[in-house]
Amino acid sequence: NNYCVIMAGGIGSRFWPMSTQQYPKQFQDILGTGRTMIQQTYDRIKKIVPVDNIYVITNKEYISLTAEQLPEINPENIVGEPMMKNTAACNIYMAKKIADKDADANIIVLPADHLILKEDTFLQKVELAFRLAQENDYLITLGINPTRPDTGYGYIQFVENHNSEYFKVKTFTEKPDLEIAKTFLESGDFLWNAGIFVWNVKSILSAFDSYLPEMTQNFESCEYNSKDEERCIDLIYPKVNKVSIDNGILEKAKNVYVIPADLGWSDLGTWTSIYENAEKGENENSVNTKHVVTYNSKGNLIKLKNVNKAVVIDGLENYIVVDTEKALLICPRENDQLIKDYVHDLKTLK
Ligand code: GDD
Ligand code: MG
Repeated sequence: NNYCVIMAGGIGSRFWPMSTQQYPKQFQDILGTGRTMIQQTYDRIKKIVPVDNIYVITNKEYISLTAEQLPEINPENIVGEPMMKNTAACNIYMAKKIADKDADANIIVLPADHLILKEDTFLQKVELAFRLAQENDYLITLGINPTRPDTGYGYIQFVENHNSEYFKVKTFTEKPDLEIAKTFLESGDFLWNAGIFVWNVKSILSAFDSYLPEMTQNFESCEYNSKDEERCIDLIYPKVNKVSIDNGILEKAKNVYVIPADLGWSDLGTWTSIYENAEKGENENSVNTKHVVTYNSKGNLIKLKNVNKAVVIDGLENYIVVDTEKALLICPRENDQLIKDYVHDLKTLK
């Protein structure tokens, strides 16, 4: 049977000050479509995975927000983590929990905060991935054609073979530095990891066994789907290492396969990706208010919480300016990966 796990425990810190710990971006309607990012993720996948088999794994803090936004999901399928341990932990946890019910389950793992414009293609590739995962011991990822040397993604190099819809992965490099990302892009050999994974529970649990054995040990002791699960998880989590599924498993495993997919995909993960998807006016400036005059300025993303504020910009190029009630961000667009660090540094001020 096919299952879905929506990962929604991040705090979207690269997307500060719009995304905050109280109200992370997956619970916001970032593009103004009337549905939040997690709602859109759910709307998409419920077309091929039965609602009873859809799970959300998030921080305990966000359980009520999740239940509010996704009232159709069985409350038992909204699973809380006591703390953020990155994506390896939530994946072994969910694989164990689902395997306890269905030892031959296939799982699609979805980030809660991605934009996918070509839904039909997405669903068709997911069907293929489910078939492959059912029949083979494969860890499958969807691959996107890269358009810029973005250092925020995983890069996948695959073994060429003709007339196939899927390929064996040769190398997987999570978040390379800029120089390496540029070489990857220029070589034309690489795809971006979309962060969407499909696997059978047996395959992913055996990969954890091989590459993160201490995590397998940590998670072995709980009785899943029992009254004791929460107490047990609360005891385990403080001991668990913080590592992403990409660094911990996908970079190392030998049985990773990629399905290239033209999904109209964007990880709305950074201000640059918002800028690229935003409507732009004169001189490629994107400003979300009408009360604006610009001089000698181009390529800026100006986002105001209060859209009635008047704005004057003179001599500004390729900047991000985001103004909310509580915070103001001004930074060069090319530094948008550093926002995570800015947020970290801000915290140390207190
Ligand atoms: N439950 C839970 N717990 N979810 C988490 C946690 C956690 O501790 N940490 C992150 N998440 C969720 C986020 O909310 C997001 O939906 C998803 O897991 C991925 O985490 P990100 O923090 O957004 O990862 P990333 O964007 O840096 O990198 C991943 O995605 C890229 C594509 O968008 C990697 O898979 C890259 O290889 C990939 O290119
Ligand atoms: Mg992301």
